[in-house]
Amino acid sequence: MSNLSDSTKLAHVPTNNAKLIAWVSDMAALCKPDHVVWCDGSTKQYDEMCELLVKGGTFTRLNPAKRPNCYLARTHASDVARVEERTFICAATKEEVGPTNNWAPSDEMRATMRTVFDGCMRGRTMYVIPFSMGPIGSPIAKIGVEISDSPYVVVNMAIMTRTGSKVLEALGDNGFFIPCMHSVGAPLAPGKKDVTWPCQPDISKKYIVHFPDTYEIWSYGSGYGGNALLGKKCLALRIASVMAKKEGWLAEHMLISGLESPSGEKTYIGAAFPSACGKTNLAMLIPPKGFEGWKVTTVGDDIAWIKQGPDGGLRAINPEYGFFGVAPGTNMASNPNAMLTIQKNSIFSNVALTDDGDVWWEGMDGPPPAHAIDWQGKDWTPDAGRPAAHGNARFTAPASQCPSIDPDWENPAGVPISAFVFGGRMSKDMPLVYQAFNWSHGVYLAATMGSEATAAAIGQAAMRRDPMAMLPFCGYNMADYFTHWLNVGRKVPNPPRIFRVNWFRKDENGKFIWPGFGQNMRVLKWIVDRVHGRGFAVESPIGWMPRHEDIEWKGLDFPSGKFYELMAVGRDAGTAEAHSHEELFDRFFDRLPKEFTFERELLRSRLWRSPERWELAHEE
Ligand code: GTP
Ligand code: SPV
Ligand code: MN
Repeated sequence: MSNLSDSTKLAHVPTNNAKLIAWVSDMAALCKPDHVVWCDGSTKQYDEMCELLVKGGTFTRLNPAKRPNCYLARTHASDVARVEERTFICAATKEEVGPTNNWAPSDEMRATMRTVFDGCMRGRTMYVIPFSMGPIGSPIAKIGVEISDSPYVVVNMAIMTRTGSKVLEALGDNGFFIPCMHSVGAPLAPGKKDVTWPCQPDISKKYIVHFPDTYEIWSYGSGYGGNALLGKKCLALRIASVMAKKEGWLAEHMLISGLESPSGEKTYIGAAFPSACGKTNLAMLIPPKGFEGWKVTTVGDDIAWIKQGPDGGLRAINPEYGFFGVAPGTNMASNPNAMLTIQKNSIFSNVALTDDGDVWWEGMDGPPPAHAIDWQGKDWTPDAGRPAAHGNARFTAPASQCPSIDPDWENPAGVPISAFVFGGRMSKDMPLVYQAFNWSHGVYLAATMGSEATAAAIGQAAMRRDPMAMLPFCGYNMADYFTHWLNVGRKVPNPPRIFRVNWFRKDENGKFIWPGFGQNMRVLKWIVDRVHGRGFAVESPIGWMPRHEDIEWKGLDFPSGKFYELMAVGRDAGTAEAHSHEELFDRFFDRLPKEFTFERELLRSRLWRSPERWELAHEE
């Protein structure tokens, strides 16, 4: 640990950035840690931190013959996912953050943060983690510095972002950074033995706080995922969305992937799906039988920063450096590229441990192990009557290890985006795919996207509107966000085409109608064809829709009757849907862009004039 203890004195700070030094000193004085350590991003320090986590019982080293350089972490049972109800956006007035965010008055919350952070790191080490979202030095990249008392956060940040000395170098003496303050909220009394997952178990004492006016983040009480890895949702979405609005770009909850045809034509798309709705799967898709010669490449699986390029088109970068993906359900059939990515140098959180020192989760390949240790550290057998892995168990893995990673994934100029795809989880009344008539209509489709809560009981699908899959991640009033989207399209000469998709429609027996996963390539190919002006579509009241013969079916027997079942929307269902958009829009009052009112009225009149059940032209 020599290089750690060498840097425990603030006098040894590895930067001359006066603002950074002042902030770290101020935070050390407030949090009162025993030590301060600057993270240099070296492998040596990473290994030392992992060793520390193994010694403390947070990490279990996995069998190096099966998972080289991999670790398993088990969290406290209360600290397993993001806490939306304790996520706050601060501003002077509630109006600024809008009806969909938890508002807190800035001054009050600032005082609260000072109080809860006071002495919160007693008995612990305060780590200073300089990180870059986006390739270091890229004009699109943003630098953040996270202060955290969690070594688990340090090693996860090292995978998820570019960290360390090279970031400080890029920051320079006067560079701008976003201060990200994090504590697990569990000071350690002298002589007291630490627990394996320190956190604040009382949910009402957790705080995930954003100050968009000053670009600051304060997170207290949780050590898990988006609550604690502050580069991700807090910086790259909530704070970045505010920066993006000011600077004229987009920060989105989107995967980015490249679709390469056998002739070598490459089309990039950005696709927004709510959490746990299949972004990672789609980003790493392997084309199915019948698509020989096609290739799908991965630029990112969760976040896209999108700006206008020198040629006027939109270009996207993935600000992240790794994947924090949902483990359950991931297997060699559903997502082989993810399985290959997580073979080494990965961290697994809340999965099960097998007797031979490997990991397991529900939906992994092969039969369940006869015995395992579950995510809570208890003995588990297949007849235990409870899952071995937590439903939100995740892997943290370097993006560079993904076999399908795009050659341009670190290109500071980004990749050109030709289409935006939006999709939620809808068990009925939402077609497999359709295309917006134009940008304004597309923004409307994206803003009215709905998704059924995954945890909802079967048959009681409670749908929530999740505009652009950004409901929990927009750092300002969503009505202004809609306006911003409309404006972006006005500036771009040939804006990306916009599509809605739905992989999750169910039949009367509650079974998915669409096979999904690799088969989604068929839908993507239609999208690519439409983008390039080749694909055929029929005009329907809700948008442009493919007929059965417009989709490539080679390698899959999918009868046209079943396809039209998947595509069907009737006048009544469509009208009910259009009507319920008002429930969302009413919440924004006069701030809602007037284009949305027009779009809704146009939609209603198209539906009004349509037959009870509209037929897409059937093939012979
Ligand atoms: P976050 O990381 O939480 O933002 O979510 P994500 O969008 O990356 O979610 P992820 O890819 O981990 O979603 C996985 C879930 O989506 C699993 O339940 C999968 O079974 C399901 N899923 C993904 N693709 C498909 C599909 O094509 N069809 C069906 N039916 N389910 C799918
Ligand atoms: C999500 O919830 O959308 C995630 C996981 O991507 S977390 O990083 O924990 O927010
Ligand atoms: Mn996400």
